[in-house]
Amino acid sequence: MKCRKCENKASIHMRQHKLALCKEHYLEWIPEQTERFIKKYQMFTHEEKILVAISGGKDSLSLWDILVKLGYQADGLYLGLGIDSGINYSHESQRLAEKYANENNLKLHVVDIEKEYGQSIPVLAEISHRGYGRPCAVCGLAKRHEMNRIARDLGYDVLATGHNLDDEAAVLFGNTLNWSSGFLLRQGPVLPASSGGLARKVKPLCRFYEREMTAYAIMRGIEYIYEECPFADGSQSIFYKEMLNQLETVRPGAKLIFYLNFLEAKKSGNLFVEKNVEQQNLHPCPKCGQPTSTPDLCSFCRMIEKARAEIA
Ligand code: AMP
Ligand code: FES
Ligand code: ZN
Ligand code: ZN
Repeated sequence: MKCRKCENKASIHMRQHKLALCKEHYLEWIPEQTERFIKKYQMFTHEEKILVAISGGKDSLSLWDILVKLGYQADGLYLGLGIDSGINYSHESQRLAEKYANENNLKLHVVDIEKEYGQSIPVLAEISHRGYGRPCAVCGLAKRHEMNRIARDLGYDVLATGHNLDDEAAVLFGNTLNWSSGFLLRQGPVLPASSGGLARKVKPLCRFYEREMTAYAIMRGIEYIYEECPFADGSQSIFYKEMLNQLETVRPGAKLIFYLNFLEAKKSGNLFVEKNVEQQNLHPCPKCGQPTSTPDLCSFCRMIEKARAEIA
């Protein structure tokens, strides 16, 4: 398959966009799209100071890479969680975050939870008995708290995370299964700054598939941690991601439509608002008399008329 923009062989084919691109054009396309999303959702401007939460994974390192390339003022924040049993997850991700920052002359703030609060995340989780044996709930709580605190203390306007479409669709799926209306109303590419001094939170990669971010990181030669956090294994969010991927295989674009149509419904104010059907402009169909909102004939009568006309 050939690149849409030149004659070279395509390096990636995105079925949901019906778009194939070579490496050179893909590395242009991703930042262009990101800029478009930043503007569309009014995430931030070139005058604002951005703190990018860096986990050492492909998404957040790519996000940093893209924002710097687009000329934004973006510093990094790495939070040391102390998850080091087995694969040395925290050590390795910190090494890769620091490596990227050093190689690109960027400023990375490193904050270690154990140094700040006396205990690592796994120990805090054990002591607090939250989250049914998994430290993930405590970890999420601590990460949110620390990101907010550091962004505020260091005077950043915006906090950016690397959540991609697969992450957002999985969260949306979970929230929808539970009809968690509060969470649904807060989910989106931008969470405005709060009066309590919390920075605006943004997710500039929320419309990119995970596979698109992996491709970007690899093509850019960014070294990132491949392993997931060891505690993620068997988690609900991974299960939802797998289910959505099955759906995506038979219906390319399903994940994107699920997320984008949710954002649209929320924006138009139609989510969870009960509408009185009678209030819409209904009139009786001139042929069958059933109430309809389409001008003139109802959709059914129009279809039958059309079928008759074709046969005649
Ligand atoms: P996760 O919650 O692990 O799916 O990560 C979602 C996003 O949170 C990442 O893309 C990062 O922006 C941010 N993040 C996760 N872990 C860390 C960390 N240890 N330090 C700083 N940011 C993180
Ligand atoms: Fe926090 Fe896994 S428990 S990253
Ligand atoms: Zn090309
Ligand atoms: Zn607090």
